[in-house]
Amino acid sequence: MSSPRLRKVVFPVAGLGTRFLPATKVVAKEMLPVLDRPLIQYAVDEAVDAGADTLVFVTNRYKHAIADYFDKAYELESKLAEAGKTELLAMVQGTLPPHVRCVFVTQPEARGLGHAVLCARPVVGDEPFGVILPDDLIWNEGPGALRQMSELSQRENGAGIIAVEEVPHDQTDKYGIVDATALSERAAKINLVVEKPKPDVAPSNLAIVGRYVLPARIFGLLESTQPGAGGEIQLTDAIEALLAERSVLAYRFAGTRFDCGNKLGLVKATLHMALQDPQIAAATREFVGGL
Ligand code: G1P
Repeated sequence: MSSPRLRKVVFPVAGLGTRFLPATKVVAKEMLPVLDRPLIQYAVDEAVDAGADTLVFVTNRYKHAIADYFDKAYELESKLAEAGKTELLAMVQGTLPPHVRCVFVTQPEARGLGHAVLCARPVVGDEPFGVILPDDLIWNEGPGALRQMSELSQRENGAGIIAVEEVPHDQTDKYGIVDATALSERAAKINLVVEKPKPDVAPSNLAIVGRYVLPARIFGLLESTQPGAGGEIQLTDAIEALLAERSVLAYRFAGTRFDCGNKLGLVKATLHMALQDPQIAAATREFVGGL
C-alpha cells in the first residue's frame, strides 16, 4: 500500500525576528527580501514543488503582511494590466499557483516550535504533513528538499523524515541534534534526538535543519510534551517520543542551506541568488572580487 502524498505544509511564522531589529519592528522577518523575493516565497515555492496544495501559516496578530502578500492585489493588478505591463503582472499574480490555498491560524502565545506546530492540528487533521521553517532557505538546482523528503517518506511507508546536515561541533547548542545509524548515502535511522545540547554532551554534530515530514501522530505526542530547552514546547522532544513507537529517518538533503535567521546567512543567500541572476551575476562577481 502506498502512503498518501504530502498535501499540507505548515509554516511556523509567529517568531519576533529580534536578530533583524529595527527592520522587524514593522517588517515580518519572513518578508525580508533575498534579492527580489521575500524569504517566505522561497519556502512556499518549495512546498508547492513538493506537491502541497494547502499551506498552513501559524502566525501572530502582528503578521498581516504574510497574508497580504499572498492575497490578490486588485488595485496593483488592474493598474499593471491597464499599462500593459504583462511581465510584472505575471510576477505579482505568480506568488501562488491557483490550485493552492492558504490557511492562517494564530499562535496566541510564543510557547515554542512544538506548540506552533500543534496550533496547525485543526487544519492538518489526520494526515501526514510537512513543516518548513522559512529561516532555513534551501537552494537546489533539482527537486527541492521537501520534495526529496516526501518521496523518501512515500517509499518508506509514510515514515517521518527529518532533514539534517553536519554543523561545526561548537554549534550543537543552536540545533536539534540526532544520533542516527546510516541506511544509505543520504538516509539514516534516528536513534535519539536532543534539542540544543552543549557540545560536550551532544551525541553527534548532525543537526536538524528546518524541514520535516511528520505523521499526524505527532500532534497527540505534542499535547503531552512538557516544556524543554529554553522553557519551550519543543518539536524535537515530541519526535523523540515518536521514536519509541515507530522509526523516523534523518535525511541529508541535496541542496545548499542558508541560515537566514541571522545577518550573515541572509547576506550569503542574497549573494548566492544574485550570482544565479543572469542580469546581475557578472556585476555581482566583479563587485565581490574587488572587496
Ligand atoms: C528549531 C528547532 C531545532 C532545529 C532548528 C533548525 O530551532 O527547534 O531543532 O535544529 O530550528 O533551524 P530554532 O532555530 O527555532 O531555535
